[in-house]
Amino acid sequence: MNKTTTKPMLTMQAWVCQRYGGPEVLALQTRPLPQPGDHEVLIRIHASTVASGDVRVRTLKLPRGFGLIGRLALGFTGPRQPVLGTDLAGVVEAVGREVTSFKPGDAVMGFAGAAMGCHAEYRCLDPRKKPLVLKPAKLGFEQAASLLFGGMTALHYLRKAELKAGEKILVIGASGAVGTAFVQLARHLGAEVTGVCSGANVDLVRSLGAARVIDYRNEDFTQSAGRFDVIADTVGASNFAACCPVLNEGGRYLSVAGGLPDLLARPRGSKRSIGGPAAELPADIQQLARLAEQGVLQPVIDRSFAFEEAAAAHAYVETGRKRGAVLLNFDSLTRA
Ligand SMILES: NC(=O)c1ccc[n+]([C@@H]2O[C@H](COP(=O)([O-])OP(=O)(O)OC[C@H]3O[C@@H](n4cnc5c(N)ncnc54)[C@H](OP(=O)(O)O)[C@@H]3O)[C@@H](O)[C@H]2O)c1
Repeated sequence: MNKTTTKPMLTMQAWVCQRYGGPEVLALQTRPLPQPGDHEVLIRIHASTVASGDVRVRTLKLPRGFGLIGRLALGFTGPRQPVLGTDLAGVVEAVGREVTSFKPGDAVMGFAGAAMGCHAEYRCLDPRKKPLVLKPAKLGFEQAASLLFGGMTALHYLRKAELKAGEKILVIGASGAVGTAFVQLARHLGAEVTGVCSGANVDLVRSLGAARVIDYRNEDFTQSAGRFDVIADTVGASNFAACCPVLNEGGRYLSVAGGLPDLLARPRGSKRSIGGPAAELPADIQQLARLAEQGVLQPVIDRSFAFEEAAAAHAYVETGRKRGAVLLNFDSLTRA
């Protein structure tokens, strides 16, 4: 008699988004467990964030001028990568045979960035191509995950801006994930930081190192705040043309969340606009981990949701009012 043995299929839980829309389009699905390729690391995820970028991809609400480009890049009726989630902190479960820098059991933090796929129990990353680093022991999984989306973006833009010690920087949206990282990293570089946020977040932004904080509901920074060498607009609340009068000679406007016009804007005299997607460099995650280890970069966590509550987390992030990062915590999942 022939005996056939069938291997049990290894599976995992993942949140999927198969069409653009509100948080209700998200569905919890059972999917095959990814297997690491020769150069990949399989990570069991303990925490990830629901970032503004996840909401942008789910809703396809993109900055001005990016509608068609967005559909071409992301998918026409729904995201081509249906599992959202840009970042992770977790434990290495297995490694491919060519991997020498990580081993099973290592606690890590990693950034899948535009490739997403972190709102799932497991994610494979190739450390040659995607930022992955050992998690500093002093950080919990949530704290580690909270640093990545904002930190990677802020480091990229500060490098592009070539911010120098002694320069003045204005950070618009200083209380968000990107803004809180900007404030701390710019301060660390020796710049004089002014933050723009609502009154409720003034104390937070000051505690992160801003010398001055402007409540945008009471004050228009273009009228009363003086001049700056760099203006980082992390919420798309302004634009290059409106900021030019308050930029010093040689000033840089960082269009982190701006539309196509600011991305394509020509320099005005010695002043220029810098935009586009942030790079995903392994060296940047190493720097973030080092700065967090040294206590220079503090995690800012607004709320933490259980993995099962991803749709509620999306709805909260979509308000545009969060402070720092919103976490998805995977501890509630029962795992063998
Ligand atoms: N270019 C890239 O590669 C890149 C990378 C990452 C993110 N981004 C973009 O950057 C943007 C910000 O991301 P995020 O994750 O930091 O967002 P977030 O965490 O949702 O931050 C929003 C924050 O901005 C504040 N805010 C809202 N309106 C404001 C205004 N008019 N002036 C000043 N502050 C205001 C809010 O606080 P209040 O409640 O106090 O208003 C909130 O704390 C998103 O649009 C995202 O798509 C771009």
